[in-house]
Amino acid sequence: MLLHAPKNGFFFVIDRESGEFISAKPIAGVNWATHYDETGRPVETPNADFRDGSRFIRPSPYGAHSWPPMSLHPKTGLVYLPVVDMGYVYGGDPEWKFQQGSWNTGLDMSVFETFGETEGENVESWGAYLLAWDPVRQREVWRHTHRTGFNGGTLSVGEDLLFEGSADGRFVAYRATDGKQLWESPVGTGAMAGPVTYEVDGEQYVAIAAGWGGSFGLSGGEAALLAGVRGGGRVLAWKLGGTAVVPPGKPPLGPVPAPAVRVAASEKELRRGSVLYHTQCSACHGPGAIGGGSAVPDLRYLDERQHGLFAETVLKGLHEPAGMPRFDDLLSTDDVRQIQAYVLQQAAKGHAAESAN
Ligand code: HEC
Repeated sequence: MLLHAPKNGFFFVIDRESGEFISAKPIAGVNWATHYDETGRPVETPNADFRDGSRFIRPSPYGAHSWPPMSLHPKTGLVYLPVVDMGYVYGGDPEWKFQQGSWNTGLDMSVFETFGETEGENVESWGAYLLAWDPVRQREVWRHTHRTGFNGGTLSVGEDLLFEGSADGRFVAYRATDGKQLWESPVGTGAMAGPVTYEVDGEQYVAIAAGWGGSFGLSGGEAALLAGVRGGGRVLAWKLGGTAVVPPGKPPLGPVPAPAVRVAASEKELRRGSVLYHTQCSACHGPGAIGGGSAVPDLRYLDERQHGLFAETVLKGLHEPAGMPRFDDLLSTDDVRQIQAYVLQQAAKGHAAESAN
């Protein structure tokens, strides 16, 4: 038997020897197909086709299950998955052309213009949970709802133990049979990776390479801010009876300051700046320019000096050795000005929202 949970929202059971389809059932909100038929073909809904206009489709391109690993507990016979239950407005960009070195999705990135603003059918409407799934009966056994999206991979061990890191900076042990939380420790950053366990001199350890990453990008973005953790990468290990205290992570960034400079741009240029930002920058700096400020800077916090070097940073690779690519093969000076104007607009919005609270 082969158990597989790809991004498309279904959990598959497949014959591992012949590759034959056995069954598929949804583990998250799915509206692109009603089910898989007995031949292993999805039965699509009209909503799956966005060639003639945008459609709100579940799951999102980030996947109902993506990089953080699921695990099978040999004792309970259940599979434990970090699920992202999120939709996305899919639409084709009529002006899209393949660009070498760019993020070539062909999707219309203008959907991010309203990122973080409206409720309901919006790129931001997500839920996330740790799901215990019975692969034989193809049904849910329990779930533990998470506060934010994009949580960590799972590790199933021992008689009845399950470990999972969380997007909001915790490392948690659950009872695998019923999901009861047994223990938790702060991590001081997002904890996306799959934990590992190992033995040294007869003592058992559990460890995690903590930090942001995965399909939502390096930043942690909104989830990091919501959770009040900033992070960066760190490796942490625990053992029974251990006495070390987890060193605190970097403190959260604090309120978004008022924009440090002004860059003139029309409404149309701001919209274009948003599209360019979400095509070239958001995978690292976060959707909506909300970065969280862990592995990569949150661009809403740039000061006057940093803004003065913005074009040089982006086009000439001023910070290339530290992982900030150069974009002179993809963007013009004018493109960069529009992106910068968009970033400043997001800074002004973030500042206003926090001042209003
Ligand atoms: C592959 C990931 C990645 C992408 C894509 C990316 N950046 Fe960065 N960016 C980084 C990292 C990492 C840093 C921090 C470099 C450092 O610490 O010096 C950074 C730093 C910056 C800085 C400098 C901040 C400062 O300290 O002065 C600016 C400005 C910036 N990025 C803008 C952009 C823009 C605009 C885009 C899109 C055109 C973009 N970045 C795309 C990873 C990325």
